[in-house]
Amino acid sequence: MTKPQIWLAAFLFLFIFLFVLGRLTRAPREDKKQSSNPVPQGEMSNQSQELSPKDMMGRLGCTGCHGVDLAGTMKAPPLTNLKENWSKDKLINYLRNPESFMDGDRFQSFKEKYPGTIMPSFNNISVQELGKIAEFLLKP
Ligand code: HEC
Repeated sequence: MTKPQIWLAAFLFLFIFLFVLGRLTRAPREDKKQSSNPVPQGEMSNQSQELSPKDMMGRLGCTGCHGVDLAGTMKAPPLTNLKENWSKDKLINYLRNPESFMDGDRFQSFKEKYPGTIMPSFNNISVQELGKIAEFLLKP
């Protein structure tokens, strides 16, 4: 072998060696990514789809003001007899934009009874999810 040939062979060997080394060290990590990534994502989306209206209300903080049993607290009125005053559509609209319902005697008295708190608007929650909550709240 001439000198350039030896150099060429050395470089070729080094190249193949690094290539194989790279392959060997990368492969397990790629495997891990592929097998572990979709699983948590799937779990996440399933979780949010399968959240019961009750769990959703816990997450959104409704129970923090209205009470775990929705029987009302010092901060907010009970949510136990909503059928008397709300339809599903109206309730969804209310949750998205409570300020627009503030007039009316009931809300005037809420203001006096719960001066420290106001009902937050949940317009960042999808209408479908609010619909589920509304249905749950209006359930006989
Ligand atoms: C920061 C406390 C707070 C949170 C959180 C909260 N509310 Fe309220 N909510 C109130 C208050 C206070 C009122 C009474 C009206 C007012 O003063 O704005 C009210 C009123 C209501 C009413 C009208 C009650 C009636 O008798 O007509 C409904 C329905 C309602 N809330 C549902 C919910 C739902 C569902 C959630 C969660 C998605 C929620 N609230 C989260 C404080 C809260």
